[in-house]
Amino acid sequence: MDIKKLRVALDGPSGAGKSTVAKGVAAAAGLIYVDTGALYRTVGLYMADHGIDAYATDEIIAALDRVSIELAYENGTQIVRLCGEDVGGRIRTEQASYYASAVSKIPEVRAFLLKTQQDIAAQGGVIMDGRDIGTVIMPDAELKVFITATPEERARRRYKELTEKGQSVNYDDVLENIIARDKQDSERETAPLKPADDAIVFVNDGYDLDASIKVVLELMARRAKTR
Ligand code: DC
Repeated sequence: MDIKKLRVALDGPSGAGKSTVAKGVAAAAGLIYVDTGALYRTVGLYMADHGIDAYATDEIIAALDRVSIELAYENGTQIVRLCGEDVGGRIRTEQASYYASAVSKIPEVRAFLLKTQQDIAAQGGVIMDGRDIGTVIMPDAELKVFITATPEERARRRYKELTEKGQSVNYDDVLENIIARDKQDSERETAPLKPADDAIVFVNDGYDLDASIKVVLELMARRAKTR
């Protein structure tokens, strides 16, 4: 099978470098990179824009009828439009992250975003990053990689990133936060974060970005040969 036709599911917790690895792999192999977190962020943004509380589940479900999301790819970059507006910048705020995390727990929201994701997957030639790509969105993906790192390694990376941005943070607090989020994400009822049975688990402690990209590209090359 042509490597450019592969469907690659890349799941894992935040802080494992998923999106950077997926972007690098997509650029190197000529695949479309689909950032599914952006969809949850966009639903969250709609609710925030309309003054709906992040935990007002019934109101959120009722508002879904009015949410129109379009995904487009221009020069290899994903563009997300919410009711016609390009929200690429606005979905990256702390508020959008908070809302995304809240709305992603609602089964109706996940069902609402399912078709958009499966339509893109059906075209082939994609690497999708998320939490339930290998288990729910593309259960028949040719390659599933669950990319993770120990909580300590992810905390070190996050600590470095935040201090480089000039924020004063405490390493132990960052680590505690990561452990709490992992617990919440893996124990939630809807689409809990866990590797698909047939996923390859890649713990990338000690791997820099280029080395992580190389690992995924090698797995893809091997998979392409046998398909
Ligand atoms: O990957 P991210 O930080 O952009 O994701 C934003 C939120 O959406 C995060 O709380 C996890 C959630 N999410 C999800 O539940 N399922 C996905 N496929 C992608 C993201």
